[in-house]
Amino acid sequence: RMPILEQCYNLMDFEAVARRVMKKTAWAYYSSGADDEITMRENHSAFHKIWFRPRVLVDVEKIDTSTTMLGTKVDMPFYVTATALGKLGNPEGEVVLTRGARKHNVIQMLPTLASCSFDEIMDAAEGDQVQWLQLYVNKNRDITKRIIEHAEARGCKGLFITVDAPQLGRREKDMRSKFSDVGSNVQSTSGSDVDRSQGAARAISSFIDPSLQWSDLPWFLSVTKMPIILKGVQRVEDVIRAIGAGVHGVVLSNHGGRQLDTARSGIEILAEVMPELRRLGLDNRIEVFIDGGIRRATDIIKALCLGATGVGIGRPFLYAMSAYGLPGVDRAMQLLKDEMEMNMRLIGCSSVDQLGPDFVDARGLSMH
Ligand code: FNR
Repeated sequence: RMPILEQCYNLMDFEAVARRVMKKTAWAYYSSGADDEITMRENHSAFHKIWFRPRVLVDVEKIDTSTTMLGTKVDMPFYVTATALGKLGNPEGEVVLTRGARKHNVIQMLPTLASCSFDEIMDAAEGDQVQWLQLYVNKNRDITKRIIEHAEARGCKGLFITVDAPQLGRREKDMRSKFSDVGSNVQSTSGSDVDRSQGAARAISSFIDPSLQWSDLPWFLSVTKMPIILKGVQRVEDVIRAIGAGVHGVVLSNHGGRQLDTARSGIEILAEVMPELRRLGLDNRIEVFIDGGIRRATDIIKALCLGATGVGIGRPFLYAMSAYGLPGVDRAMQLLKDEMEMNMRLIGCSSVDQLGPDFVDARGLSMH
């Protein structure tokens, strides 16, 4: 018997339901990580190395979970990160996430490899809803330039260039499940031939430029006024270089454990990056986000304590959407909001801007 939506009490519950109801190929694509999936597991378990140091006797009657990301005021410090091929999990695709994000006033990052067309997802937004674009850089820069210009014209508020995927990782679960329903939009946006014998991921990614390098960044900065954020940075040297290059942000991320296996978790990298940026007086020069393995509000709070502006969440919303559609996404976000308020109250902190390193004992992280 399938649990009803009200029986999902946390984000992991959606995963358990999705696993049972999703098509095998879709489950394989969403759930897989690279190689032995060591990084994918570590992404979540790394948060368990951090412990809270609550303050007591603080007025926590009212809790404010809102914050600002790249100039946009949001109700909670997370965003829906870019995940390709939404229609594998739900016939309506990414627009379901758009509606959930709207309801909770959080930002959605649109994937280059969405199943819905870019315009369909932009059209699904309402009022002043803010969206960002994740960009896979095409070998053909004319295509990339057109995508960027169109996104800016349509009102996208951030350009997240994925820098951790010069080649797609080997996700063996995905490769084993022969893949047949990529959908036509994906081919037209990526301008690539689809090889269906290598799993979903590889089938759609052959257009990505593996020669992308630092010297390309001035060109991106010259073709758009959108803030540019590098998604998939993994070491402090590259964060410092990104600041020097004039980009506006980085996402410390290992792509949900789908690229380099045994890469470090975002939270571990954050603990390396922020103290060094503070030491160099650079911490206000750039917004630092992390993603990967965030399943509980305590994970979000820990990231903010260590200096993140916000966090991206991927699979949990895909699973909620696949299992229950929009009501699932809505409930997943509401659960996170309830957890946020409760846990901020319990650590003795009434607003996100007051979170800081003193609230955590992060000595269990290796770089600390
Ligand atoms: C992704 N991710 C991703 N990232 C990206 O830059 N471009 C993409 O097309 C995709 N596609 C994609 C598909 C699926 C099914 C997943 C699960 C992930 C990575 C994503 O943006 C993010 O880094 C991770 O999903 C974060 O980890 P969690 O929250 O899924 O654990």
